[in-house]
Amino acid sequence: MSNHDNTPIFPDSYIGDSSLEYDNSIWMERNQKKATLVCLQYLHDEKLNSLGNLDNINGKKCLIADLGCGTGFSSEILVENGHRVIGIDILIDMLLKAKTKKKFLKKEKELELILADINFLPIKQASIDHVISISAYNFIIHGKNLISDILKTVNNTARYLKKVLKPNGRIVIEFYPKDEKELNAFISSFKENGFDGFTVKKDPNQKSGQTFLLLKQC
Ligand SMILES: C[S@@+](CC[C@H](N)C(=O)[O-])C[C@H]1O[C@@H](n2cnc3c(N)ncnc32)[C@H](O)[C@@H]1O
Repeated sequence: MSNHDNTPIFPDSYIGDSSLEYDNSIWMERNQKKATLVCLQYLHDEKLNSLGNLDNINGKKCLIADLGCGTGFSSEILVENGHRVIGIDILIDMLLKAKTKKKFLKKEKELELILADINFLPIKQASIDHVISISAYNFIIHGKNLISDILKTVNNTARYLKKVLKPNGRIVIEFYPKDEKELNAFISSFKENGFDGFTVKKDPNQKSGQTFLLLKQC
């Protein structure tokens, strides 16, 4: 289920038959996996390195939290690339499909799946090497209409992500903020909570749509 412009509707696009449709979509699988590979590259982006704190993950096995892991397309790619992954999703219909996929992974033990809300992560402090989130982070403000509620949510989550990351840990988010105001709320939540970074878009004049947010700790 999606809007007339193909924007998914949360949670309707990810429950019941829609979750099955999502999981069976070859187009979706290709897009999620492609975006995940781009995010993996961005984790050691040169421009981020030039902000100091060089941390090359090439060849190193990392513990990565995949926020909003859905049916596991993104988590699967992270495991196949040699990482240990904690996949987190709020919807059981999506997570159950990820659990089925996990059974077919060669390195099944490298993937742990947790039913939880990104805004209330059940993760130990300073335990995660890096965080990746593909097509999910914009949903953390679902149901919030007041700007004060939106800012409170994005700030609390950014502050908590700072706590769960190890000192050199980075965050790469691929997401779809609805407009510039929403994007700025997400960016400032990180900048106000100990992160530095920048966004990457296909078209620099683009105001909404697919956006990559690359962050490192200051
Ligand atoms: C586009 S889908 C998942 C994409 C995922 N990267 C994949 O490979 O399938 C977005 C997911 O974000 C999840 N989500 C939305 N809000 C969430 C929240 N607050 N906490 C955890 N997961 C959330 C949804 O349940 C949905 O499964």
